[in-house]
Amino acid sequence: MLEFILNTKKIQTDLPSGMTMLDFVRYESHLKGTKIGCREGDCGACTILVGEIIDNVLRYRSMTSCLMPIGNANGKHIVTVEGINMEELSPVQKAIIDEGGTQCGFCTVGFVMSLTGYCLDTIKASNENAIASIDGNICRCTGYKSLEKAAFNITEQLNNRNADSRIKWLIENKFIPAYFADIQRRLIAIKNTKNTNSTSIKVGGGTDLYVQKHDSMIHTEIDFMFDKKELNEIGKIGNTIYFGASVTVEDLRSHAIMLDLFPDLLLHFKLISSSPIRNMATIAGNFVNASPIGDMTIFFLALDARIVLSDAKNKRTIKLKDFYKGYKSLDKSSEEFIEQIQFDVATKNTYFNFEKVSKRTHLDIASANSALRISLNENTIEDISIAAGGVFAYPLYLTKTSAFLKGKFLNAENILAAAEILQSEIAPITDARGDMQYKRLLTRQLFFAHFIKLFPDNIAADALLQNEFNA
Ligand SMILES: Cc1cc2nc3c(=O)[nH]c(=O)nc-3n(C[C@H](O)[C@H](O)[C@H](O)COP(=O)(O)OP(=O)(O)OC[C@H]3O[C@@H](n4cnc5c(N)ncnc54)[C@H](O)[C@@H]3O)c2cc1C
Ligand code: FES
Ligand code: FES
Repeated sequence: MLEFILNTKKIQTDLPSGMTMLDFVRYESHLKGTKIGCREGDCGACTILVGEIIDNVLRYRSMTSCLMPIGNANGKHIVTVEGINMEELSPVQKAIIDEGGTQCGFCTVGFVMSLTGYCLDTIKASNENAIASIDGNICRCTGYKSLEKAAFNITEQLNNRNADSRIKWLIENKFIPAYFADIQRRLIAIKNTKNTNSTSIKVGGGTDLYVQKHDSMIHTEIDFMFDKKELNEIGKIGNTIYFGASVTVEDLRSHAIMLDLFPDLLLHFKLISSSPIRNMATIAGNFVNASPIGDMTIFFLALDARIVLSDAKNKRTIKLKDFYKGYKSLDKSSEEFIEQIQFDVATKNTYFNFEKVSKRTHLDIASANSALRISLNENTIEDISIAAGGVFAYPLYLTKTSAFLKGKFLNAENILAAAEILQSEIAPITDARGDMQYKRLLTRQLFFAHFIKLFPDNIAADALLQNEFNA
C-alpha cells in the first residue's frame, strides 16, 4: 500500500504504483487544477510540489506530475494548486495577475506552483533564482516579460523572509495555507512505509521511462530506486568521490563537494533540462538510458568514472567507458542494477570543461556535447580524458585522442593533430539534430573550445581555427 499526503488529505491506496501522479490527481482525486499539456516533461503545465523531510528539514521541490509514478510519492507531501488556494489570492497568484502574467491561463497553474516552490525553497531569494525556478514552464501567450516582472515582484516580497522559520513566515504572510505547519509531524508518522519489489523494472525519476513507455508503465511491476536511502548518499573517501545511483542532477548541482571541485558546475548543469526535471532525473537513469547525447554520461566519462553494479549475490566495479557495447547495449545483466558511481579527484593543476550545443540553449537535448579533464605538469599533459556525445552509437570516450595527447606539450600543434585523430574515432549520423558533416565540425569546435576556455593565455583561438575543415 502507498501512503502519502495530497494537499491536506492522507492518501492510502492500492492503485498500481506505476500510475502517474498527474492521472492520480486529476482522475482519482478529481483535482482538475493541474493541467495536462505535453505529458513529456517539456511544458510545465502539470507542475506540482513534492515535500519530504531531508536531514530533518521539510523541503519542497517542483516536479512534473506527468512523469512521476505515484510510487515515488510514498511518504511525501504532494501539493497541487488546490493545496495552496486560500480565501484570498496568495502573493504569488496576485503578482502574476498584477503584472499581466496570465492570458489564456493554461500555463498559469504551472507557473504558480513553480514560483510557490521558489518561495518554499531554502535557497536565497534573488531575481536569478526566481527566474531559474520557472525554467521548466512554457507560456505561449504572454511573451514572458510579464511573468519575469511577477517573479521579481515576488523576490522583493521575500526579502524579509526569515530563513530559520521559513514555513512559519510563509504562512503568516499568506503565501501558503496554515495546514503546512503540521505537515512535518504528519510525514514523520508515515515515513517508514516500503514500496518496492526488487525483481522488477528499475525506475529512478521516471523522466526517461515515462516518456518512452508512457502507456505501459501503469501495468508494470516496478522496483522504485528513487528513494532508497543507500542509493542517495554523496561522500568522499580519500581521493575518491562516491555517490548513489539515485542521486539526481539537482542533488549534485547543489552539493558542496561538487561545487568545490567544479567551479563552473552551476553553469554546466544549467544546460541540462529544467529545474523540475533535474529534481527527478537520476544519474544512473542517464547512464542506463544510454542515449548517445546523455549529458551526465559525457560529464562522467570525462572524469573516467567507475560504476558499481550489483545483483542479489554479487557486486562488481567497471569503468563507465566499458559499460557501453553498442547502441543501447550495455555490459549489464537483467538482474544487475547500478548501485554507486565513483570518480577520483585528480591532483593539482587539473582542469575540467563541459560543452553542449543544442538548437535551443535551455531545455533541449544536445546536437553534440563534450567534456574534458586535463592534468598538467608545467606545460606537459600528464593525464587527459575526453568524451563526446551525439557522434557515435553510444556516449563515446575518446580513447585514441586522449592517448595521443597524454605526455605531449600543451600547444596548438598537438591539439590540431589530436583533432584529426578525433575525427577518426567518431561516426556521427545525419538526424533531426543536424547532418553528419555539421556534427563532425561541431565536435571539432567543442574540442577546441575546451582548450581555448581553459588556457586562454596559452592557446589562441586563431591558431586553432585557421585550418580548413574537411569531413
Ligand atoms: C523534458 C526533458 C528534458 C530532458 N533533458 C535532458 C538533458 O538536457 N540532458 C540529458 O542528458 N537528459 C535529458 N533528459 C533525459 C532524462 O531526464 C535523463 O536521462 C535522466 O537522467 C534519466 O533519469 P531517470 O532517473 O529519470 O530515469 P528513469 O526513467 O527512471 O530510468 C531510465 C533507465 O534507467 C534504468 N535505471 C534507473 N535507475 C537504475 C539503476 N540504479 N540501475 C539500473 N538501471 C536503472 C531504468 O530501468 C530505465 O531503463 C530529459 C528528459 C525530459 C523528460
Ligand atoms: S504535461 Fe507538459 S510537462 Fe507534464
Ligand atoms: S497564458 Fe496562455 S499559455 Fe500562458
